[in-house]
Amino acid sequence: MNNPSRLLSFLALLVSVTIGAHAQAPAGQSAQLERGRYLVERVGLCADCHSPRDQKGEFVMEHWLKGAALPFQPTVEMPWSPVAPPIAGLPSMNDADALRFLTNGMRPDGSLPRPPMPQFRFNEADALAVIAYLRSLH
Ligand code: HEC
Repeated sequence: MNNPSRLLSFLALLVSVTIGAHAQAPAGQSAQLERGRYLVERVGLCADCHSPRDQKGEFVMEHWLKGAALPFQPTVEMPWSPVAPPIAGLPSMNDADALRFLTNGMRPDGSLPRPPMPQFRFNEADALAVIAYLRSLH
């Protein structure tokens, strides 16, 4: 490579390839995040309770999973939480507690969250994917 402009464009290509490789998350990690997003958005439907809606009943995307007052209530007397706390970033639990909570449905002290929070029993890999996805949200 004795032509200086060819050498320069080769170097530019090398730099862009190197930067591109660093900008991407490792394959395993992004597959886990995708799995987590799928479980949260398509299976667990966490947003139904944990995301606020506007006057038309549509999700306010800037506050995705940032907690909401529930727009519905039971017709009979029963334990109930009228508010779903924020879960974007999973602020209320460390990873170990969140893993237990999502695999057996119990809080660290053994208590159950009040309805309508479902008692989820994800397997460990799926619970870890949900945790990774929620932590990735700010
Ligand atoms: C049908 C409504 C509903 C759905 C669906 C729902 N939640 Fe909740 N969630 C709640 C309510 C209400 C609470 C508050 C319960 C309480 O305070 O006792 C809660 C509490 C929580 C908490 C906090 C527990 C604590 O004590 O700190 C976490 C974490 C959580 N939910 C995660 C999720 C995830 C993850 C999903 C989806 C996979 C989900 N929730 C789906 C209603 C819901």
